[in-house]
Amino acid sequence: MNTYWKNKRVVITGGTSGLGKALALTLDSYEARVVIIARNRDRLKETVNHTNIHPIEGDIANKYDIHRLSGEAIGILGGIDFLFNNASYLGESPLRLLMDTECEDLEQVLTTNLVGPFRLTKALLPSMLMQHQGTVINISSDAAVSAYPQWGSYSVSKAAFDHLSRIWHEELNAQGIRFLAIDPGDMHTPMHLAAIPDADIDDLYQPDDVARRLLDFLSVEPASDQVRYSSREWNLERAI
Ligand SMILES: NC(=O)c1ccc[n+]([C@@H]2O[C@H](COP(=O)([O-])OP(=O)(O)OC[C@H]3O[C@@H](n4cnc5c(N)ncnc54)[C@H](OP(=O)(O)O)[C@@H]3O)[C@@H](O)[C@H]2O)c1
Repeated sequence: MNTYWKNKRVVITGGTSGLGKALALTLDSYEARVVIIARNRDRLKETVNHTNIHPIEGDIANKYDIHRLSGEAIGILGGIDFLFNNASYLGESPLRLLMDTECEDLEQVLTTNLVGPFRLTKALLPSMLMQHQGTVINISSDAAVSAYPQWGSYSVSKAAFDHLSRIWHEELNAQGIRFLAIDPGDMHTPMHLAAIPDADIDDLYQPDDVARRLLDFLSVEPASDQVRYSSREWNLERAI
């Protein structure tokens, strides 16, 4: 049990699957107060027995949802200590070469992975700025750094997301807002299955394990100016 998280007010986009769900359930067990945002109502309803988790239905890629989502989240929690911009879209599966990528698909990936989180962050920041504290964790990927063929749209979105985090940090760190871009590493989740259907599950980390370790890492407050962390940097315990 990590007592740091008790009563912390946390918003997680994409809290119904994979890493986001694992973060929400772990935080629930730590008695944090958690809002999760996702589109599928049935999966949101699965959290009904978790008293510390408050589901909100919405699409971060839809600009008309953002003010309702941020308003409801602040209304439920009263303020925000942590925002996990975790939800993301891989692009059309199977993944394809840039030459075969529809421009509209690239647009949708950027809207979901970059513009949507930017809008949500902007909408929630005033609440953090009023408190003079808050942490925004933008979930990155090694695809942000490595140029993997066929991962073009997603990679570009994550690289831009990393740099967005660095600029946010430069602009707002002095006002008490911390921005982090964290690569969680390869995990056994539906997104990974869609990207690499024949991956060896033994090579992947379980999202529950990643969530617990990530929350441990965040609770010791990395004090440096480092914004982006590769999975090896933040998760020394599991580095191989
Ligand atoms: N899995 C890996 O190996 C891996 C590796 C590196 C980085 N990552 C990153 O880790 C994060 C979590 O990935 P994951 O594998 O856990 O994904 P996942 O299992 O596919 O879960 C994605 C979550 O995001 C939600 N979501 C997707 N689009 C949304 C939208 N437009 N609005 C609101 N919610 C939306 C989904 O719910 P709905 O569909 O109901 O909306 C779901 O709850 C992502 O940022 C991903 O890029 C993953």
